[in-house]
Amino acid sequence: MDEASGQGANHGTERPVEAGLYREAMSRLVAAVHVVTTRTEEGRAGFTATAVASVSDTPPTLLVCLNRRIHSAPAFRRAGVFAVNMLAGEQQALAQAFGGRTAVTGETRFAVGQWHEGRLGVPVLAGAVASFECRLVEARTIATHDVLVGRVEAVTLGPDGPKLAYLGRDFLVV
Ligand SMILES: Cc1cc2nc3c(=O)[nH]c(=O)nc-3n(C[C@H](O)[C@H](O)[C@H](O)COP(=O)(O)O)c2cc1C
Repeated sequence: MDEASGQGANHGTERPVEAGLYREAMSRLVAAVHVVTTRTEEGRAGFTATAVASVSDTPPTLLVCLNRRIHSAPAFRRAGVFAVNMLAGEQQALAQAFGGRTAVTGETRFAVGQWHEGRLGVPVLAGAVASFECRLVEARTIATHDVLVGRVEAVTLGPDGPKLAYLGRDFLVV
């Protein structure tokens, strides 16, 4: 580091990272696309999510980041169970329907795709690459999102064919 100019300084004097720059950098991350679902006494709910990650295989545990502004956010906490459905390449219409980019909301989103009730009573998608049924073990609010940590209690493996991914704010099949 050049002490005089401060060039290359990596501590103390940095400016906060602007959200747009952060989003631009994150748009370069290749991400799998999922539809995360739940069910309460009010019916089924779901949203498209790329912010899904494995936490551990012992015991099988994953996390999902859910924007608290999503209509169904309270339902996910209340239900205490959810399913993470990993989309196949041919399931882009589901990513759109559950992605908040159309006027379709709530239960009516489930008109797209074929759904059945899983072991935990949550909506599981036919033809998904894999579906993970989870029991909510922790929900922590961080910034704008609820981080939902789920213990995986059932896994359904679908066809191991082309998968849907998201990169550069666009869908691609990998
Ligand atoms: C490709 C894609 C990935 C998304 N990933 C996430 C995500 O990881 N977490 C999240 O909270 N919202 C994510 N969203 C946005 C939600 O799907 C969207 O806000 C939600 O469906 C809106 O639901 P509502 O109309 O019921 O409020 C994503 C949307 C798209 C299209």
